[in-house]
Formats: sequence, structure tokens, C-alpha cells
Amino acid sequence: MSGHSVFDVSGKRGYVTGGGSGLGRAIALGMAEAGAAVMVSDINQEAAREVAEEIRVQHGEARSLAIDVSQKDQVEKLIQTTTEELGGLDFAFNNAGILKLGKPEDISQSDWQEELNIDLTGVFLCCQTAGRYMIDHGGGKIVNTASISGLVVNSGLTYSTAKAGVIQLTRVLAMRWARHGVYVNCFSPGYIRTGMTAPHLTRPEVEKEMLRQTPLRRLGEPRDLVGAALFLASPASDFVTGQNIIVDGGVTLT
Ligand SMILES: NC(=O)c1ccc[n+]([C@@H]2O[C@H](COP(=O)([O-])OP(=O)(O)OC[C@H]3O[C@@H](n4cnc5c(N)ncnc54)[C@H](O)[C@@H]3O)[C@@H](O)[C@H]2O)c1
Repeated sequence: MSGHSVFDVSGKRGYVTGGGSGLGRAIALGMAEAGAAVMVSDINQEAAREVAEEIRVQHGEARSLAIDVSQKDQVEKLIQTTTEELGGLDFAFNNAGILKLGKPEDISQSDWQEELNIDLTGVFLCCQTAGRYMIDHGGGKIVNTASISGLVVNSGLTYSTAKAGVIQLTRVLAMRWARHGVYVNCFSPGYIRTGMTAPHLTRPEVEKEMLRQTPLRRLGEPRDLVGAALFLASPASDFVTGQNIIVDGGVTLT
């Protein structure tokens, strides 16, 4: 590991949900590059396996596990497998999410529920299960992926509601678990090129609008999140909890 020692995560162990693509993949690769052992988890088994293999090819330490974050028993399996195979749980990236767009007046209850189950309940289940382990084992760092959609109005109703929930869930857990040495923070990306945004970016007018809203005049790449991830999972953030780090090229300045 090169660089300042406060960012040293060598020997640290943890998982990334949604690690098979986009931001999760970048976070898993970035944490491994910085010396951590990573459980790459995704509902897409093949994608998770490929990212873990990519890490091992680069001489990092990684395993993979397919789970659905909205299922309590599967989340429990994630924590159990991570702690058994990697030997502990120092960090937890609760990053998996989906986005459905549609008019608020047309959303069905089942679509509302399905999106909340993954984007909010999934984060809750992962936080609770990882948090219990960390409380019993001297602490740890939980990092949730929220979104600027939890702060401003720029996306779907259910998605935005879930992401606002993730930001407040992060703050409440940080307050409750600080005395246990369990840190809980989140970050809020702006417009990033990933599998989630790709279907929308096929329309040039969508990309043009995202660029117009972004003062830095480019869309983010998944790697743009690695600095915030490393900060929040490393000793560099040892006096930071309950925060939402906005990584959006300035979108929310206006
Ligand atoms: N891309 C952006 O512009 C952007 C902006 C703000 C926030 N985010 C958030 O970043 C996170 C990652 O999204 P991304 O942009 O990398 O999208 P992505 O679609 O590339 O990656 C999401 C990953 O989550 C996995 N996943 C979906 N449902 C799951 C489930 N139930 N259980 C486990 N894994 C599941 C998918 O298989 C996929 O690999 C999401 O929480 C998203 O809301 C993305």
C-alpha cells in the first residue's frame, strides 16, 4: 500500500453488495487495490464471480457470493460467509440498488414495494446484520450508497424516497452505534455511467441534461467513488460518523 497511512486498509476485511457491476465493482476493486480482502456480493452470481477473479488476477484477495439483499436469510448468509472466509468484518458497503422510473400517479403497489425492498429494506437488513456482528466484535465501518436523489428532486418517486430513507437511516444508526465503535456513513453519487444509467444515456438529450446540471461538465465514472469509499472505510474517517458525502460534480450546488 502506498500513500498516507490513514488510508491504509491492508488486512481489513469486508463485503460490497452490488459488487458485480458499476459503483460496487469499482469499490471492490479499489478496496482490494488498497490492500483489503473483499467479499464481492451480488444477486448476479456470474458478475460477482468475475469481479472477484479480476481482483485475484491483480494479486488482491477476494471471494464472491450471490445473495439478494432484500432477503433476511440471505443477508445473514453474507455476514456469516464473509466472517468465516475472510476472518472478520471491518467494513460493509451496502451498495446494491435498482432504479425504476415512471409517473407517480401510475406506480403500482407491487413496483413501489419491490423497489423499497431492495433500495431501503435491503440497506436496513445489511446494516442490522453487519452492525450486530460489529457491536459484538469491537466495531467497524458501514458505508451505505445513497444518492443525490435523496436530497434533490431529479428521479423516480420510489427511488428518491428510498434514498432519503437511506440518508436518515445512516444518521440514526450512527447516533445509536457510536458508543460501540460502529461508524455508519453514506455517500451520494450524482450522475455516474453504470449499468443503472446506461439505458437512459442511450438518449442523447438525457446525457445533455445531466451534463447541463453538472458544474464540472462531465458525467462521473465509477472510479470517481473510490476516494470517498476508501476514506469512509479507512482510519482517515475515524472522527466522522452519520455523514453523507456528496460526490456529484457539483449538481447539488444549484
Ligand atoms: N449510477 C448512478 O448514477 C447512481 C447515482 C446515485 C446512486 N447510485 C446508486 O449506486 C448503487 C449502485 O448502482 P450502479 O449505478 O452501480 O448500478 P448497477 O446496475 O451497475 O449496479 C447495481 C448492482 O446491484 C445488483 N443488485 C440489484 N438488485 C440486487 C439485489 N436485490 N441484491 C443484490 N444485488 C442486487 C445488480 O445485479 C448490479 O450488479 C445503487 O444503490 C444506486 O442507487 C447510482
